[in-house]
Amino acid sequence: MHQGMNTQDVTQPDRRNLLKGLAIAGGAMLATPTLAKAEGNVTIAPIGTSSLNDRQPFYGARQSGIVNPRPAHGMIVSFDVIADTPDELQDLLKRLTDRMVRLTHGGTVETGDPKLPPPDSGILGPVFKPDNLTITLSLGASLFEKRPWLAGFKPKSLRRMPEFRNDALLAEQCHGDIALQFCANTQDTNIHALRDILKNLPDRLVINWKQEGAVPVVPPRADGVHENARNFLGFIDGSANPNGSDTALMDKLVWIGADDDEPAWAMNGTYQAVRIIRNFVERWDRTPLGEQERIIGRQKMNGAPMSGGDHESEVPDFASDPEGVHTPLDAHIRLANPRHPHGENNLILRRPFNYSNGVARSGHLDQGLLFICYQANLDRGFVAVQHRLDGEPLEEYIKPVGGGFFFVLPGVAEEGGYLGQSLIATLKT
Ligand code: HEM
Repeated sequence: MHQGMNTQDVTQPDRRNLLKGLAIAGGAMLATPTLAKAEGNVTIAPIGTSSLNDRQPFYGARQSGIVNPRPAHGMIVSFDVIADTPDELQDLLKRLTDRMVRLTHGGTVETGDPKLPPPDSGILGPVFKPDNLTITLSLGASLFEKRPWLAGFKPKSLRRMPEFRNDALLAEQCHGDIALQFCANTQDTNIHALRDILKNLPDRLVINWKQEGAVPVVPPRADGVHENARNFLGFIDGSANPNGSDTALMDKLVWIGADDDEPAWAMNGTYQAVRIIRNFVERWDRTPLGEQERIIGRQKMNGAPMSGGDHESEVPDFASDPEGVHTPLDAHIRLANPRHPHGENNLILRRPFNYSNGVARSGHLDQGLLFICYQANLDRGFVAVQHRLDGEPLEEYIKPVGGGFFFVLPGVAEEGGYLGQSLIATLKT
């Protein structure tokens, strides 16, 4: 149950009808075929052949956990930081990097002195396997703003996540000085890693909130087709996500490069938007199928567009449907990506997980989407897409209650380095 969940969580927003006229120069719409590829998509459903021995690289110019396919379990944890000087921040970043190297590699648990607390929680036994674990570190605006010596170094559009029009944000589930995204094949690996970090950095990190999520394991279909996972509204989610293995596309959409107007230390970083979006699943389950499909803009069973086809990889054709006869003009996918010639500017890389937290005080299931997305430019990416979605009919069934905006640090290129090294070097010169 959400502590402090207020009555807003069950209010029924008015059905909004403000999107007429948003045909966006109808005939000018173009399909964007690069979006249709499901293979290499980070949201492709885990297929069940994952192993405890799967290992993601820790070292690299960019952090892991963003463009690699999403494993079955994910978790976002927000912390406040105890660091009053650049040296103390450096100490945090170095020690956190050490833990991340060890945890993502796997290893043998040290036993230590029986008179002292054991060095490891032991929840994975004497040997813990890498299990596909990635831990991705990102920084919140408050880390910079609370520290005068750091304030001038903030990435350009990093700011506290504002309240969008359908939001009912709960203070205890929002923001933070830093966030860690944990992704692994199994939930226990994420929890083990979190407990290790809490145990080893109590002098530097104070936990604020956490949200776990998961996606179903879906074996390939009989015809070999590999699908994206479903969300808790029963729709396939991720069909039109940009291909995470297309490095040129990821350089353009996700990673900060020399052309971006950002401080030099931020190169190879990216912006992370996290949204904890409650789904009113009981209400949704009582909504006619045709209406559900019109609200999303895709067919429920196979994920195909309303404009035709029988597979999620078909590209929606809005150009020949300017009045919204097949795909309503205010359908979720049509607003999120009108497939307008300039829409390419607003593409985001989504990496969401479904969450199930128990029962809310209202007596309804507390389920929803731990929405996470990445983009090189926060305003052109998440913020622009969210503003287009403001007022969508789907709002009657969803309520964003938490999350935050964060900046993902560049990766650690090689052994001996640490996360945030370029920032610390800039601070100290
Ligand atoms: C609980 C909330 C949400 C649900 C249930 C949901 C569900 C879906 C579904 C079923 C699709 C179609 C399949 C696909 O391409 O992935 C989709 C597409 C999409 N959604 Fe959402 N979504 C939610 C929130 C959001 C938010 C907050 C954003 C961004 C602000 C967003 C952005 C998009 C985008 C960009 C697409 C792809 C559109 C396209 O290119 O065709 N969604 N969503």
